[in-house]
Parts: sequence; C-alpha cells; structure tokens
Amino acid sequence: MSARSPAGTHPEPTFTPLDIGHPVYAALLDPDSAFWALLDKTRVADTLAGGPLRDVYRQHAEACRRELHALRFELKPSGVYLNPTERCNLNCRYCYLPAAQRRSGGHMSLDRLLASLSRLRDYFRSTMPEGSKPRAIFHGAEPLMNREAVFAAIDAFADDFIFGLQTNGTLLDDGAVSFLTARNVSIGVSLDGPSAEITDATRRTWSSRSVHNRVLAAMDRLRGYESWSVIATCTTENLPHLTAMIELFHAREVPTCMLNTVRCTLPGARTVRPDDAALSRAFFAALDRTYELYRDSGRKLVVANFANILIAIVAPTARRLMCDISPCGAGRAFFALAADGSLYPCSEFIGLPRFNGGHLLADEGIEAALASDAFRAVTGRNVEAFKPCSECAIRHFCGSPCPAEAHEMNGAMGGTGAFCAFYKDQVNYALRLIADGKADDYLWDGWDDGTETLFDLAH
Ligand SMILES: C[S@@+](CC[C@H](N)C(=O)[O-])C[C@H]1O[C@@H](n2cnc3c(N)ncnc32)[C@H](O)[C@@H]1O
Repeated sequence: MSARSPAGTHPEPTFTPLDIGHPVYAALLDPDSAFWALLDKTRVADTLAGGPLRDVYRQHAEACRRELHALRFELKPSGVYLNPTERCNLNCRYCYLPAAQRRSGGHMSLDRLLASLSRLRDYFRSTMPEGSKPRAIFHGAEPLMNREAVFAAIDAFADDFIFGLQTNGTLLDDGAVSFLTARNVSIGVSLDGPSAEITDATRRTWSSRSVHNRVLAAMDRLRGYESWSVIATCTTENLPHLTAMIELFHAREVPTCMLNTVRCTLPGARTVRPDDAALSRAFFAALDRTYELYRDSGRKLVVANFANILIAIVAPTARRLMCDISPCGAGRAFFALAADGSLYPCSEFIGLPRFNGGHLLADEGIEAALASDAFRAVTGRNVEAFKPCSECAIRHFCGSPCPAEAHEMNGAMGGTGAFCAFYKDQVNYALRLIADGKADDYLWDGWDDGTETLFDLAH
C-alpha cells in the first residue's frame, strides 16, 4: 500500500474507492483532502471497514487539507502572459484569439510595453518575497511580429523578470535564437503534426501556405538549448499521429513537450474537437511511447501537461501548471495583458470582452482588475459548488478545466467544459503508473528537489 500525506491530524475519512484499471491495485481517495492510497483490490472492502489506513488518514489529512487550501485560495499572482501584438501571421483553425485581431490588429508600441513592464515590476515587487522574480511570458498573438519591441523590453527588464516567449516558430531565425538563448529566455514553439500534411490541417498562413518545414528548421536551431519546448494541440486532425509526433520530437531532442487538448472556447475549435475515448487512446499510446524511447535511449521527453497531473497527485504544491486545479490559476496565480493594455484573467479570455478587468496603466490597474467582477467570475469558480464535479472523487486532480470553455461552450461557469471523461481516464492512467513504480520516468529529473518528503507506507 502506498499513500500521500504530510504530517497533521484529522478525524474521519470519507474514502471513495476508484477502479483505476490496474490488474492488482485500486485507489481509495478522500476527495476533500486529496488524500489517496493505492492498495490491493482484494483489500478494499476490509480497508473501508477499518484498519491502519484510517489511522494514517487521521494523522495526516488535516495537513493535506491545509496544503490544498493554500494552493487553491491563498496564492498571489507571480506571473503574467504578455500580448505585445494582436497580430499573427498564421490562421490556426482552433485559435482562441479573435481572427479579426490576428489578421489586422495592432502592435503594442515600445513605449507602452516598457511602461507596462514597469508597472508590472512594481506590482510584483509589492506582492512577491524579496529575491523572487515574476515570470513574464510573451505569448500572443505572434510575439515575434513585434520583435524589436519585445527584444528591447527583454533587455530593459532583464533583472526584473524571468522571461519566456511562445511562438509559432516561423520567425525564429538565427538572430532571434541567438538573442533569446543568450539571455536564457525559455522558448516554446508550436507544431501540430509529424508531417506537413498533418500540421497543415490546423496551422497555416492566412493564404493557406504550409509552415511545417519552417518550424522544423527553427527546432533545429534550438537543438541543444535547455529551456525550450514544443506545444502540439490535440485535435481530430492529428489524433492518429500523436505517437509519430512523439517520435519526431524525441529524435529532434525536444526536452519537454505539451500535448494539449484543444480548448473549445470559440466555435472554430469545436470543429476539431476529438471524442474523449479516442483522445484517451491516442494520448496514452503517445505517453507509452515516451516511456519506451526513454528506456531505449536514456533520454526523457517529458509531456509537461501530463507530468503536471502526476505531480498534482504525488506532491500538489510542486505542480507547475495551474489549469488542473480549482479555482484555476487564471486571475489569481497569473493574469494576461492584451495588446491594447487591458487585463484578463488568462489569455484564453482575450476574445471575450466581458472578462476584461480594466486597463493596466489606469490608477490601481492591477488591484482593480483582480477585484473586478470580470476576474471574480473566474477566480470564484469552484469544483465544490457545481455538479458533476462536486461529486467526483478526482476533482482536485483535474480541476475541471477550463472556465472560459465551460462558460462559452456549455453556457455557465458552474459546469464542466469539454473532455470530462478524458480527464478521468488521465488520472487513472497516472495512478496506474504510480502503482507500477514508473511515475519518475514521466517526470523531469530532479522534479522533487526542495519538496517535502511525503508519507509513504509499503507492506
Ligand atoms: C495562441 S498561441 C500564441 C503564440 C504563438 N503564436 C504560437 O503559435 O505558439 C499559443 C498556443 O496556444 C495554442 N492554442 C491556440 N488556440 C488554442 C485552443 N483553442 N486550444 C488549445 N490550444 C490553443 C496554439 O496552438 C499555441 O500552441
């Protein structure tokens, strides 16, 4: 039997048994505290009736609850997604940013970008512990379309932020790579297929030209750099090719990738929404392939969005992404700055004017946005408050993403978005890996450096 729980005390558990699809093990979870244990299936009934797990729970559950509560309700923002331009040279079928802005929107001027970073720096200085730097990720629409301003801003605020840049890769030439890598900026590139035919199905220029080979060339330039990653967005178009994509990423020495489900916030994205069961099959086959490649080559390709679920289970406070917790990180762990200077809880909301929390450079700009109705609608979304999540045992490993998707696709914050069945499958898959002692093979080396050693009971 193994279980997770730091020290503390609490009275009675409400264990929910979970069939994780493992030949030997089942899980018992206390959904409120996210306390869990894996045990022999034949012992579930006895354990529910009494026995040592209850004692372990009594000792540790309160600390689990406290830890989870702090993560869910006590964080202050420590990062910002920056949109230095509305424009993008691609017209991806599923993009959550409005097409009119991407096609003919404006750039943020250098003066405005510098003034914005100055305001953001002052805000984070007032909220973050001394010596910690906030993260600032240039994220949309295509940041390298406003390259001069972005690069000038990175140099001007090098001491104040940890910078990252997410790009479609088409403008990532030698000069851009030299500039960014010399400054240790983390770089994310987007690619949706192992071949041009598959990538072209979702990611093309406005005149329908392929960019697949240009992105591969950019990836070649990044080979050997530590801080880079690739995002593939999983849709009906590339689902049968996820395993081939993993092989391509591994062959090109991508250190970390993300296989993100397509967010169905805007109608365009729903046209390429995969079926949950098909998504599970393809996603787990791709994860299985990362494991084989690691065993064969000794080199890991971490799938960050899945790694985050594993970490959410084994060490919640060490998680890096904040989509899989409720409330999600939007508007409380981070927020987004649009190119027109408006603040949104997350980039996913930039196409939805009712979630505009006001202007960064206005008086009290950030504080006012954080307290605005627009932000509160998102930060107040809580899996305990609506069905089916309130009755779901894995609600604190899933977080019911995403509020923008739930609101736009299903008409309310108080409900699920897309892919509920997939998220359940994903947690079961993660628990099976833990049961088989394989979890570390899917995580970054040293992922738990500095985290508290958690309770582990085996007999
Ligand atoms: C909006 S883009 C901005 C940065 C840059 N232009 C790029 O392509 O990486 C950031 C990432 O979001 C992804 N993305 C856009 N719309 C999405 C959606 N509806 N669901 C999931 N990912 C999406 C893109 O594929 C890309 O990987």
